[in-house]
Amino acid sequence: MTLSVVDVTHRYAAMALELPAVLQNVSFDLTMGEQLLLRGISGSGKTTLFNILAGLLTPSHGTVTLADQSLYALSEAQRDHFRRNQIGYVFQTHHLLPILNAWENVAMPLAFGGESTTTRKERAMSLLADVGLADFATHKPHQLSNGQRQRVAVARALSNQPHMILADEPTASLDAESGANVIDLLQQTCRNANTILLVASHDPLLFSRFVRTVDLEYGHWVESTSQSEITQAESAHA
Ligand SMILES: Nc1ncnc2c1ncn2[C@@H]1O[C@H](COP(=O)(O)OP(=O)(O)OP(=O)(O)O)[C@@H](O)[C@H]1O
Ligand SMILES: [Mg+2]
Repeated sequence: MTLSVVDVTHRYAAMALELPAVLQNVSFDLTMGEQLLLRGISGSGKTTLFNILAGLLTPSHGTVTLADQSLYALSEAQRDHFRRNQIGYVFQTHHLLPILNAWENVAMPLAFGGESTTTRKERAMSLLADVGLADFATHKPHQLSNGQRQRVAVARALSNQPHMILADEPTASLDAESGANVIDLLQQTCRNANTILLVASHDPLLFSRFVRTVDLEYGHWVESTSQSEITQAESAHA
């Protein structure tokens, strides 16, 4: 299973023509179990790219292929179905449903899979425990702090056992310890289930935790080689 992004360029319709495109000719591949940290200043296009990878925003140009399926060759309904089965997305703005409590929000993506309510609740409760919120399962989003809502959103993104996880600033509202726990959980899930993991963040605490790091600079994909790879390359040439 591979994610393949080829020559993606995006310009919002509302943008002034003299502005450069938000994303310019972005191409990269990620295979199962690979992790990538996406950095870039505010407004550099991280969320735009994640929305495109999630099948939520049709790029002006280019293709996104996941598990041999070209996302934008699908109809919108087929793409929604594909996303529910394949992709876990931790939105920057959470997008929890206000009328559902924490466990019901986490179990939401499972509603389409035909599992019983008991099974769905068990899975949701186990994920809430993983993010330290076992005691908040029946709280509605407005009864939770921002960081707690963020952790519910992380649990929800994992509930359908996705093949690709997109986490947009998943530690933004969290203290260092809760943030580290969330990243531990995402990286462990990635290792155990061979999931593709992309995290967008400008949290310096995360920088050393990813081998593959990319900066979005004025719409361009700038990939830096990690120090460990440089050391490996140097010893190979010694
Ligand atoms: N719906 C939209 N219509 C027009 N322009 C948009 C729209 N959404 C985002 N933009 C513009 O696209 C650029 C990239 O926005 P995006 O949200 O992808 O950045 P980001 O890197 O996620 O920023 P942040 O770190 O603040 O979350 C910004 O200049 C923004 O103004
Ligand atoms: Mg963003």
